[in-house]
Parts: sequence; C-alpha cells; structure tokens
Amino acid sequence: MSKPRVFVTRIIPDRGLRKVLEQTDATVWEDELPPPRSVLLEWASQADGLLTLLTDKIDAELMDAAPKLKVVANFAVGFDNFDVPAATQRGILMTNTPGVLTDTTADLAFALLMACARRIVEGRDYARNGHWRTWGPMLLMGQDIHGATLGIAGIGRIGLAMARRAVGFGMRILYHDAMRSEVAEKELGAIRVNKEELLTQSDFVSLHVPLTPETRHYIDAAALKMMKPNAILINTARGPVVDTMALYEALKARQIFAAGLDVTDPEPLPADHPLYTLDNALIVPHIASASFETRSKMAEMAADNLLAGLAGKLPPNCLNPEAFNKS
Ligand code: GLV
Repeated sequence: MSKPRVFVTRIIPDRGLRKVLEQTDATVWEDELPPPRSVLLEWASQADGLLTLLTDKIDAELMDAAPKLKVVANFAVGFDNFDVPAATQRGILMTNTPGVLTDTTADLAFALLMACARRIVEGRDYARNGHWRTWGPMLLMGQDIHGATLGIAGIGRIGLAMARRAVGFGMRILYHDAMRSEVAEKELGAIRVNKEELLTQSDFVSLHVPLTPETRHYIDAAALKMMKPNAILINTARGPVVDTMALYEALKARQIFAAGLDVTDPEPLPADHPLYTLDNALIVPHIASASFETRSKMAEMAADNLLAGLAGKLPPNCLNPEAFNKS
C-alpha cells in the first residue's frame, strides 16, 4: 500500500520529523520563511495530511483545494491560523500541541516580567557601551517583583503556570477570566476580578488569552489609560491582543513603565518599527516555547497527531472530534 502524502511546512525538530519521514511520503519545505500561499495550495491539493506552523493559514479556500486532506497538525498550541468550523464541515481533523509547552511559555513570560522590572537589557547595554563609570545611587532603578500584584488575563494552562511562578515571588495574584479557576483560587490564593479591577490594581499585567474576535485589542488605549504608571505589560499570547500603536504611545509617554512582548502585531515586527526605539519596550521574536526539549516534544506530538489522523484514528489532541465521524 502506498504511503500517505504529507507536506511539512518547515523543518521541525528531529524527534517528530523522523517519524513523519519514516511513515509517510513527505515533502518538507526547507526554507527559513514560510511557503508562499501558492505553494501551500499546490501541495495541499495533493496531500492527505499537513503538518503546519502558526504562520500557515489553513482556511476554507485551502481545504476546498485539497480533496484528499484528512488531517492538519499544527506545531503550536495556538490555532488562530485554522478555520476549525470549516474543517469540521468538511470532515478534516485539526490538531494542536497543548500541555507540553505550558511551563516553558510561562518561564519566558516570567523572564520578560523580571527583565522589564529590573531593566536587565538596558543594564546590559549600559555596561557594554562603556557608560558604567561608578556605582550609581539612582542608576537604572526598576520595580520590585516581590510583594507586587500580578494580574493575569486568561487563567488557562499557561496563565495558571504563570500564577504558580508568582507565588514563589510572594506576589498577590488577580485574574480575569470568563471561567472561575478553583485551582487558582484555592491552591494559589488568586482573586477573580473584572477587567477594570485587573487593570487598575495590577503592577504587572500578563496576557494569556487566545486570540478571538473578543480578545482582539483587549489592551487598547482605554485599557492602557487604566493601568498604573508603574505597571508592566507582558504579552506571550498573540500580538493582536494588544493595540500596538496605542501601546507605543503609552510607553513613549511613560503612561506605563514598560512592556515585554514575545508576540507583536504585525509579526514579525519590521526592523524600522518605532516600538524598537523605546528603552522600555523589550521585544523578543515569538520564542516562548523555544527550549530544546519543549520544541522536540511539540514536534513529536504534532507528528503523532498527524500519523493518527492518517491511520484513521482519532488524534490525541484533536480540536474538532466532531469531524471524526464525518471523515
Ligand atoms: C506558539 O505561539 C504556540 O501557540 O504554540
């Protein structure tokens, strides 16, 4: 029997890629940049399965051009690049990689929080650029983390992991979410508040909501105005959750203290973007899950999801199990 045709839209860690190459007839897009839309459509038209990244848009147009497509496995936990209802209608299974990247992502969110609070990158540049002439009583003063209030928007897996880290630093924890989290409240002493309370009371606001029409620009000019002047905004969720230009204006006017961003809108943020000119904006290139171990686990999970779907089984991390009966 011939092996299923698969298109892998980028080189991923070997632990997952090897499985896909062994068990399918796979083509791998080897460039650093994503495949152009025309290539993705062309390959999808022949594919039984796709292993995709968050930069690949998998929408109704692509699915209609892909008569054999059974399963699309995202190498990411976020899946705002997928039109899941369109896939369900067509009996195409869609999967993601939840769980394995939770702690690694929260580690980076906390690292950004600490780096912004204590001005680590500014300090590195100051020393490196020859400005360090003596011990300065007023030099590079930042914000305390211990004893401060952390406001978490979205208490899902990653928001909760962020709260666990905050407990170790003696922080007070507030959260805003449509759902109550008993674990956050009972185990970590977190307090559920409304959005306004979160923004007005927090010294740090960390975003952990998925990108949906409701969360687009969750942090806009009005939200930034509510935040404290010492507040630090951390975004490891999705770029469009924050209104970029409103954030730029707020940081420039020192309306809030700083922002640490792993994700931006647009993404990538062009090199000439004004946000880069601000010392109080710390921007890293969407690397929250980028540890060797976690990226390998994500690759393996995406491969297992893909291979299960191709074998006619329900993938372990299926986003639309309703599609299984149709497929
Ligand atoms: C990365 O942003 C992911 O969703 O896994």
